[in-house]
Amino acid sequence: MTTHTKEEIILKAENVHLEYDNKTILRNINFSIKNIVRPGMEQGQVVSLIGRSGIGKTQLFKLLSGLQQPTSGHIHIQNDQPVRAGDMGVIFQNYYLFEWRTIHQSLMLAAKQNPALKGHETDAIKKSAADFELTDHLQKYPQQLSGGQRQRASIIQQLLKGSDFLLLDEPFSGLDACVLDKVVELLLQVSISDELKTLVIVSHDIATAIAISDTVFILGKEKDLPGATIKKEIDLIARDLAWQKNIKREKAFLETVEEIKNCL
Ligand SMILES: Nc1ncnc2c1ncn2[C@@H]1O[C@H](COP(=O)(O)OP(=O)(O)O)[C@@H](O)[C@H]1O
Ligand SMILES: [Mg+2]
Repeated sequence: MTTHTKEEIILKAENVHLEYDNKTILRNINFSIKNIVRPGMEQGQVVSLIGRSGIGKTQLFKLLSGLQQPTSGHIHIQNDQPVRAGDMGVIFQNYYLFEWRTIHQSLMLAAKQNPALKGHETDAIKKSAADFELTDHLQKYPQQLSGGQRQRASIIQQLLKGSDFLLLDEPFSGLDACVLDKVVELLLQVSISDELKTLVIVSHDIATAIAISDTVFILGKEKDLPGATIKKEIDLIARDLAWQKNIKREKAFLETVEEIKNCL
C-alpha cells in the first residue's frame, strides 16, 4: 500500500438533519473528511457520496455548499468554521453558466475573485482552457457548447476562483463513454493540482465514483427509519483501490461495487 497519513479534519458534518413539512429527508448525517498527506506529493482528497436517485444527494450537496441550512446540525470546514455560501466551488448537475456571457467573460469574472491571480488572469484562463481543451470555445456563449464542454467550462470557472473545495453534483451523468473517461482523467488531474485540495463528488454512478475516489460514503435508508443517512464509509486506500488508473477489472474493485450495490 502507498504510504500516506490522514491528518486534520478539513470538513465535518455533525448530526445533520433536513426536513420539509415534517418529512425527514436526511437523518443524523455524520462524517468527516481528513487531509491526506503523501510524502513528496501534492495530494488532494477525492471523496464520493453515493446513493440511489431520489435519496437526498442533491439536498446534502446544497447543505455542504452552504447554500442551504440544515433543519438542525452543522457543517464545518477548516478551522471549525461553519461553511458559508461561496466557501466552496460548486458545480451543479446542469453545469450552470451565465448564459448571456461568453465563456471567456465568465472565466474572467471567476479569475478576478482569486487574489492569487491578480494581474495574471488572462494567462491563467489561457492555460486552463488549453488544459481542458476549450481554447477554441472561449468566445462562444454557453448554449453554443456541448454538455461535456459546458461541464469543463464550469469546472474551470470554479478552479479559477481558487477555492480549496470543489463540490460536484452528478458530474458523470449524461456523458458518453469517451467523454466520461476524459472527465475522470481531468478530475484526477485537478485533485493533484496544487490549487485545489478536496473534491467532493455526489453521484449514483458507483463504478466511476470508486475509480476516482480515495473514500466513499454511502447514503441510504435504514430499515424502519425515516430519511437517508450515511450507512457506510469505505476507505479505498486501505483496499489498495485509490490512486490507480486501471482498477476497473480488479477483483477488489468489482467486490467493492457489489458491496455498495447491496448497501444502497
Ligand atoms: N423543496 C422541497 N420540498 C420538499 N421535498 C423536497 C424538496 N426538495 C427536494 N425534496 C425531496 O427530497 C428528496 C431527495 O431529493 P434529491 O436530493 O434531489 O435526491 P437525489 O439527488 O439523491 O436524486 C426527494 O424525495 C425530493 O422529493
Ligand atoms: Mg440529485
